[in-house]
Amino acid sequence: MQNRVAFITGVSSGIGRATALAFARQGIDVAGIARRAERLTELEAEINTLPTAHGDFLGIAGDVTTAESMNAAVAQTLERFGRLDILVANAGLGQRGAVADAEWSHLETLLRTNIDGVLHSIRAAVPAMRKNGGGHIITVSSVVYNLTSPYAATYAASKAFVSSLANSLRLELEDENIFVTDVLVGRTETEFNEKRLGAGKRTGEGIPTMSPETVAEAIVKATTSHQKTVILRFFDRLIILGNIFVPGIIGRMAKRQYR
Ligand SMILES: NC(=O)c1ccc[n+]([C@@H]2O[C@H](COP(=O)([O-])OP(=O)(O)OC[C@H]3O[C@@H](n4cnc5c(N)ncnc54)[C@H](OP(=O)(O)O)[C@@H]3O)[C@@H](O)[C@H]2O)c1
Repeated sequence: MQNRVAFITGVSSGIGRATALAFARQGIDVAGIARRAERLTELEAEINTLPTAHGDFLGIAGDVTTAESMNAAVAQTLERFGRLDILVANAGLGQRGAVADAEWSHLETLLRTNIDGVLHSIRAAVPAMRKNGGGHIITVSSVVYNLTSPYAATYAASKAFVSSLANSLRLELEDENIFVTDVLVGRTETEFNEKRLGAGKRTGEGIPTMSPETVAEAIVKATTSHQKTVILRFFDRLIILGNIFVPGIIGRMAKRQYR
């Protein structure tokens, strides 16, 4: 694992932050982008005081929704570490509410972050990976990617985009030795729920929740195991399979949950 450099989007909290710590503990240098600069400084301090040998951290204050910001972040990463081997396209946010009634500004923020952000991240990182003769892209999608998802429809559709993109991208990049893993994440204890845009703040009691460290571990493992798709738990697998075989029932359950 040593001598590789990882770039993580959305590194200031939750899954991105835990993944930065997990890579650093493996001795991997990590660069990461997020908008909250003070969180990046805190993370850098935490990584620098890890009790064992660790990778370095470069925090870059920026916004994944613009190509300029992502290109500049990758350029800073190359300047500092000389290479980029792993991209974790993780930055994202949620939204609830009826499609017809949601505030357009909320839907636009969601689409710009969850869709444009992932595209800008990939398009900025791939040229750097080509210089090394290969790399690994991890897309952070969701178990709702194939869910009939009333009142969380735009979020689910944004993750359908991410997973569909990952599956096609894998074939586009395979000849260049760049591997793509799509991680279908289930409910995780992060700031995600409280920051979710729109109406319908019910948090889904009864749905098992995992820690961001559990997801981070799976992401780090994926960079060596080269799995195409990662599903962390039996419960998450049930949701995905349920939506394939009994989408009507799962859709009704989701409607009760999300409204
Ligand atoms: N938590 C869950 O239950 C769950 C389940 C399935 C999938 N996921 C997915 O997991 C990913 C990470 O979410 P999380 O749970 O770790 O939530 P989180 O703690 O809210 O983290 C989201 C991260 O994205 C960053 N971000 C948001 N907009 C950004 C922008 N425009 N530019 C740069 N960074 C931006 C945030 O940083 P700043 O605000 O500082 O910019 C933050 O670091 C998301 O893609 C989410 O859809 C989460």
